[in-house]
Amino acid sequence: MIKIMTVFGTRPEAIKMCPVISELKKEVQMKTIVSVTAQHRQMLDQVLTAFNIIPDYDLNIMKNKQSLVDITCNVINHLDDVVKKEKPDLILVHGDTTTTMASGIVAFYNKVALGHIEAGLRTNDKYAPFPEEMNRRITGTLADLHFCPTEQAKQNLLSEGKSSKNIFVTGNTVIDALQQTIKAPFSHPVLDDIFQMEKKTQKKQRIVLLTTHRRENLGSNMVNIFSAVKQITEHLDNLHVIFPVHLNPAIQNLSNEMLSGNRSIHLIPPLDVISFHHLESRADLILTDSGGVQEEAPSFNVPVLVLRDRTERPEGVTSGALKLVGTDQNVILTTALDLLTNKEHYNKMANSKNPYGDGHASERIVKVIKNHFQL
Ligand code: UD1
Ligand code: UDP
Repeated sequence: MIKIMTVFGTRPEAIKMCPVISELKKEVQMKTIVSVTAQHRQMLDQVLTAFNIIPDYDLNIMKNKQSLVDITCNVINHLDDVVKKEKPDLILVHGDTTTTMASGIVAFYNKVALGHIEAGLRTNDKYAPFPEEMNRRITGTLADLHFCPTEQAKQNLLSEGKSSKNIFVTGNTVIDALQQTIKAPFSHPVLDDIFQMEKKTQKKQRIVLLTTHRRENLGSNMVNIFSAVKQITEHLDNLHVIFPVHLNPAIQNLSNEMLSGNRSIHLIPPLDVISFHHLESRADLILTDSGGVQEEAPSFNVPVLVLRDRTERPEGVTSGALKLVGTDQNVILTTALDLLTNKEHYNKMANSKNPYGDGHASERIVKVIKNHFQL
């Protein structure tokens, strides 16, 4: 019996790892051990509930306003005990969080093989996204199997000298997750209210979905983003901004300070992933600095303005689904207004193809693991 241990800790890792766990659990020759660091607590639990996954180990490390050093030290300390006890044959991690990087180090110290899902994305800027660019690079340096979502990500790894024998283009597992969530039933009070209003006024109500949480956007960049969002609502009628606010206290505080009390802006708690995916599908425009949202939204034919200067997901920009607008207040405002008023520009973005996968990434990953262990 081959033992595979998955380790993840934040909301996006969980959303992208749960489909892989479901696929691994179908294999009779493999034992799947689910370890969570709980770098996120409530936002992780929302995903585990949605996908019905009960972890075997929960390191429960989250602290209010945790530092990068807190996360790194706690993951290394606590995961080491679990790995020593379970002695897995392979540890699987996902993406670019500090949980991912620290778990990679634990795998290395214990001489356990490491599989890196969503490998090879690069901005080539050490500090953007921070600390994710370096987290992903360090994990890539330690990994034995690299699962790349796109051909571009594979090329990035090849250009760093990694062997093509260990690199597999699988698609992104977030598209696998979408196949499940979008089928599940859904209702949300804010959306229900908006649809009621549409019925009553006989006027189409448009929805702008906002998410923002990147460390490099905390502070003045986020002030610019929120100022632009307020201005958008002043320019257009029958428009609603829905903002599920990340639980980071810095974002909670600033959004309350700048955006509460505006009748067109709905500040709501983080949504469970099923509701969030449905909301994405109903949105007219998405403003985000999230990685996962950049990959999902093109599946719903909703244009995305990326609130960052650089993205490690250039495929969506090339396909036309994403536009990089950075964090300049005026650029965000004028680009959003243009899309919301110019049908031709809007349709061009909305009709772009999703380059991030076909919903079968997890199957491909499990197949590679089986081949690796000659099962
Ligand atoms: C983390 C990841 C980032 C990822 C993001 C997804 C790192 C360094 N950052 O950033 O790559 O894009 O998650 O959302 O790995 N909090 C709660 N409850 C929760 C989650 C967070 O209260 O469920 C609060 C806590 O006070 C915590 C703070 O948010 O200290 C920040 O969380 P943290 O994981 O350190 O950073 P994120 O910005 O969420
Ligand atoms: N998401 C969610 N609820 C929300 C906001 C986002 O379930 O209220 C999901 C979203 O569908 C995507 C993921 O969380 O799959 C993105 O997470 P986040 O933006 O926190 O992190 P990133 O992808 O930037 O690392």
